[in-house]
Amino acid sequence: MKALKLLPVAALALLPMVSHAEMTGEQVFKTTCSMCHGTGMMGAPKFGDKAAWAPRIKQGEDVLVQHALHGIRQMPARGGKSSLTDAEVKAAVHYMVSHAQ
Ligand code: HEC
Repeated sequence: MKALKLLPVAALALLPMVSHAEMTGEQVFKTTCSMCHGTGMMGAPKFGDKAAWAPRIKQGEDVLVQHALHGIRQMPARGGKSSLTDAEVKAAVHYMVSHAQ
């Protein structure tokens, strides 16, 4: 009987996870970042373009993550999608960096 009473509480605790399932770096890239980074729009370093990414990667991935979170020049904070979590932005940066090395 005790277990039955706990059930609704357990279901409630799971709700936030269901309402915002963390996206993978690839999903974040495809839904948010590719708008600019897929084409190189506005001077964004293009996805897979090693020459464009090399000098940026030199700054270190942590610095790139900070710039992606807070924005830099034409790059909007979180790619303009403020609902992305830090972890999602970080995963997207890693996704782009790992395809440009
Ligand atoms: C509205 C267009 C746009 C979107 C959307 C966008 N970016 Fe950018 N991003 C840019 C531009 C432009 C730059 C180049 C900024 C500069 O160095 O002048 C840039 C640069 C970057 C850099 C390099 C920063 C550095 O220090 O050199 C990273 C990392 C980055 N973007 C990550 C992301 C991620 C992750 C997303 C998706 C969550 C994203 N961007 C979405 C336009 C965009």
